[in-house]
Amino acid sequence: MKLIDGKATAMAIKAEIAEEVKCIVANGGKQPHLVAVLVGHDGGSETYVKNKVLACEQCGFKSTLIRYEENITETELLACVDKLNKDDDVDGFIVQLPLPKHIDEQKIVEAIDYHKDVDGFHPVNVGRMSIGLPCFISATPLGILTLLQRYHIETSGKKCVILGRSNIVGKPMAQLMMQKQYGDATVTVCHSHSATLKEECREADIIIAAIGRPDFVTADMVKEGAVVIDVGTTRVPDASRKSGFRLNGDVKFDEVAPKCSFITPVPGGVGPMTICSLMKNTLAAGKKEFYK
Ligand code: GUN
Repeated sequence: MKLIDGKATAMAIKAEIAEEVKCIVANGGKQPHLVAVLVGHDGGSETYVKNKVLACEQCGFKSTLIRYEENITETELLACVDKLNKDDDVDGFIVQLPLPKHIDEQKIVEAIDYHKDVDGFHPVNVGRMSIGLPCFISATPLGILTLLQRYHIETSGKKCVILGRSNIVGKPMAQLMMQKQYGDATVTVCHSHSATLKEECREADIIIAAIGRPDFVTADMVKEGAVVIDVGTTRVPDASRKSGFRLNGDVKFDEVAPKCSFITPVPGGVGPMTICSLMKNTLAAGKKEFYK
């Protein structure tokens, strides 16, 4: 069994990005600028955004954090998005999700100029991704693809089972694993209502678990030699930790790992790669790589 080290891979890629930024700036180019908008004080979102700002520093990007209280109105948030869309100094921006219930998330996502949508959540980017055109690809699926590539894991012609059908992970992951230019795999998507979920998993060469249920994937569901990618990051109460919780993946790691050829840990697997992919997208935005 080989452990896929997302933390080390992300560090290496951020160092590569930092080198490229140095060259861009040395040649008179613009330092990429990412803006993160954070509404409220959700613990998970606070951590994600803090890590995104830190990653910007590591990559040599300019970053700006805009904070709003939980009671901001939808109109006010839309005005913020509009301002960022028009600000030439801003290459890319994200609005951290989830948003408070009184704000229509989809309306906010669709208000973001797709040229600056480094999350890859705007329907234009989602649509372009699904037909294989250049675009911002959402960060978690892009991070997983990068891990598979960097570890030289063969995906072409393999049976890949994706657990979960979210807009952020399951659906785009399925699209990418299916496409010839990325995964080139035979893809099955399972979800909470799939009657044959266990059977599908047992036949899979690659399992990507993004179902959000701690320890869901057990050893009896995994074929000998399979590749297992764990996207789960559920906060589980843990009195032995200073924070009072630990991050729990969707895979019962201790019993599944011995059966795998490759497996990602939680934490230190997919998580750091997600942020690293956001950095890749921000660099691409700065370079106007996908859209002129
Ligand atoms: N919430 C959880 N993951 C993400 C992400 O990748 N981007 C944004 N904007 N919000 C999130």
